[in-house]
Amino acid sequence: MNDGVSTAAGYHWATAHIRNRIKPHFLDFDHYPRPFKTYEALKRIPLIKADFSPGKDLMVLFRREKPAEPEQSLGFQALSRVLYRSYGVTREEKARGIRFFSRTVPSAGGLYPCHIYLMVRQMEGLETGVYYCNMIQEFLDLIHRGGFSHGRDRAFDLSFVVTGTFFNSAWKYRERAFRYLLLDSGHLVENLNLALRAEGLCPRMDYDFEDDKISALLALDKDKEVPLACIHVSGKAFRPEEKFRTVPDLSGYCLKEIEDESNAISYPLLKQIHDLGKARIETQPHDAEAAKVLAFEPDDRRVLLDSETLNPPLDYERAVFSRRSKRNFIPARLNRKNAFALMESASSLYKGQQEVSPRALPFLTVGALLQDVEGFKDGFYIFSGEGGSLRLIRKGQFHEPLSRICLDQQWISRAAVNFLFMANLTGLETALGPRGYRLLLMGAGRIAQRIYLAATGLSLGCCGVGALYDEEARTLLGLNPDSALFYAVSAGPVKGSGFQ
Ligand SMILES: Cc1cc2nc3c(=O)[nH]c(=O)nc-3n(C[C@H](O)[C@H](O)[C@H](O)COP(=O)(O)O)c2cc1C
Repeated sequence: MNDGVSTAAGYHWATAHIRNRIKPHFLDFDHYPRPFKTYEALKRIPLIKADFSPGKDLMVLFRREKPAEPEQSLGFQALSRVLYRSYGVTREEKARGIRFFSRTVPSAGGLYPCHIYLMVRQMEGLETGVYYCNMIQEFLDLIHRGGFSHGRDRAFDLSFVVTGTFFNSAWKYRERAFRYLLLDSGHLVENLNLALRAEGLCPRMDYDFEDDKISALLALDKDKEVPLACIHVSGKAFRPEEKFRTVPDLSGYCLKEIEDESNAISYPLLKQIHDLGKARIETQPHDAEAAKVLAFEPDDRRVLLDSETLNPPLDYERAVFSRRSKRNFIPARLNRKNAFALMESASSLYKGQQEVSPRALPFLTVGALLQDVEGFKDGFYIFSGEGGSLRLIRKGQFHEPLSRICLDQQWISRAAVNFLFMANLTGLETALGPRGYRLLLMGAGRIAQRIYLAATGLSLGCCGVGALYDEEARTLLGLNPDSALFYAVSAGPVKGSGFQ
């Protein structure tokens, strides 16, 4: 596996799980990765934990393209809310002398390899500079004071940067970790997006930057931690001429973190796959054929998805803070109203929105295996490109074989819906280069986060599934040789949710 790869698709297949061939791996709890970074900061600012306001409708946040009211600007209290909602700790447990934290987002293996940095240009109550957001200890560390720039972002008042640390995920997943890093970061990016929208802002996602410039600005150790997404926000409070009041200063980069002594093992393949896609995208023309995932042509039988108004509405704040992965599914019918709300959460990012890694989106095929769902025959479905309908691909029972393919995780067979994230990896890479892989998996993570939140709001269970025998999945779903199932999310009635 360590021989190296020259394409993202090559990485994907090189890290495939094969039945009876997964090498046993000792989980070294003496070197458990630390979930936060430490700085000798220029200034330490505690976050404000108060003033959460229930009552925001989750489905409205999903649907709304632009805030109804004119855009607000973010004060420090609102910024604290955004950060707690995005990546706050919701539970702490201690075992083997280690503190384990649950957060508002799920993370493969609960390892939370992502970090958030904040670049502030104009904000009430926070001086201009770069901050590391320490969400475990609940403060911001000022790591660069004054102006900065990495080019196009100067028109924004503030920008969040989401990074991923290889070892935190590789501690458990070794070379396969890059997949999880991208999926995890997609979950986090979507939580940030929704948290900012809940404040009346209209965040702009940016996945297309020169990684090296951001790494240099944030003083990241490029062998360990890499930038994955920027989320820009521009408030309305400042007149345009005021926006450029701060003179960009490229001389002083950020402080370096105090080195972690946990003896991080390095996995050269992770650095290699990241390096393959670290430059900006150059899009090549492609036709619809290149995005096809199926090896056969199914009938064109469609079910239209109308969005229903839920009464009472799903409370965003409650959903985000009570979200957990629940696997105790029970064989109970999923009613039509809940099914449609789940479907809408899975397709809402498709609908007319510009910012969802738009260039990778035509290559992301979202499917669903349904079992005992009111209004639907059991079977394998695929969402139409614009998310307004489901196409029945094959009738039948797929849950039991899917659970076997997902490393024999039996609970998957009892979920009413198993969402599937698939793509033609060769077509994607031909069109967008290796960075397309990164956009693709992050896009899937974002949609999956919406499914988690909707399921939580509907009192259903939900759990992401990254562990699967890749080739077996291709065969079960009838995918062509260039295509892969790379993530699944199970959802449905669980014990104790009132559906028995
Ligand atoms: C990308 C990804 C892959 C995951 N894969 C699995 C999986 O294969 N099996 C499983 O039981 N849980 C899986 N999970 C769920 C995590 O184990 C869970 O999020 C983590 O333990 C934190 O717990 P919480 O979600 O309840 O806060 C996955 C989560 C993510 C985000």
